[in-house]
Amino acid sequence: MTSLDGMKALVIGGGGEGIGRAITRAFGAAGASVAVADISAARAGEAAGELGKGGLALSGDVRSRADVDGFVQHTVSSFGRLDTLVTVVGGQVAFVPAVKLHEMTDEDWDLAYEMNLRYVARAARAAIRAFLAQGGGGSIVSVGSVAGIMAAPEQAAYGAAKAGLASLARTVAAEYAADGIRMNIVACGAIATSVANTGQAADDVPEIPMRRLGLPADAAAAAVYLASPASSYVTGQTLAVDGGVTVRGPFPD
Ligand SMILES: NC(=O)c1ccc[n+]([C@@H]2O[C@H](COP(=O)([O-])OP(=O)(O)OC[C@H]3O[C@@H](n4cnc5c(N)ncnc54)[C@H](O)[C@@H]3O)[C@@H](O)[C@H]2O)c1
Repeated sequence: MTSLDGMKALVIGGGGEGIGRAITRAFGAAGASVAVADISAARAGEAAGELGKGGLALSGDVRSRADVDGFVQHTVSSFGRLDTLVTVVGGQVAFVPAVKLHEMTDEDWDLAYEMNLRYVARAARAAIRAFLAQGGGGSIVSVGSVAGIMAAPEQAAYGAAKAGLASLARTVAAEYAADGIRMNIVACGAIATSVANTGQAADDVPEIPMRRLGLPADAAAAAVYLASPASSYVTGQTLAVDGGVTVRGPFPD
């Protein structure tokens, strides 16, 4: 049921060394052809190259509407169709300073929103147009964060934008369920990538009920599930992949 055999996917931000690359690899291993879009042509090329003829490298910037529309158009023209869109690009610390709200500038707020929510809405719009043009059916999976579920100290815009993803998924789910189009969110906790460098050993993290950081492969497995027929009755949902962080109470266990 979690096979993606024969499916055509687009992973925006699929060329890094973290969650995006793990999703690209997992989709390829599950049988999908994958268009890897990334601001770095070299990273997109490396990730797509691993998939042989099932890989397609695309480069562009998610801040450009033309580039985002182009990612979808090139995927459809190269693969003949699009079955799944995955959006990975996002974050705050990579793009704007971590500061409390009273110190945040409008420009930084806007950039955090653009990198985490606005481009996702644009990409979803382009993918939905493609899904409808090919007769319906299709899945959108967006990488979110527990920062969109819990408080996000010094990351107010990031948290608000990631919370907005969950709303977007619910609306897409309601608007397009009858067309067989689904959208769901993978809300990551601390995943062991360069971004989540806590300075602690990855398997000795007392703040996390499971005591370890997540792996990029943990997030990728959730994305495969949400793109696959195994989740065909699941839409508009947020799946936290967080080792239990969002369900822990205030008392030590
Ligand atoms: N790493 C974590 O602990 C963690 C925790 C919660 C949520 N997340 C979420 O995971 C996602 C990113 O995962 P990651 O940290 O593993 O990163 P990643 O290694 O998957 O990198 C993302 C890719 O995005 C590309 N990119 C950056 N700016 C771009 C742009 N303007 N246009 C196109 N591509 C661009 C980068 O080149 C990189 O290859 C984000 O949505 C982030 O919010 C990560």
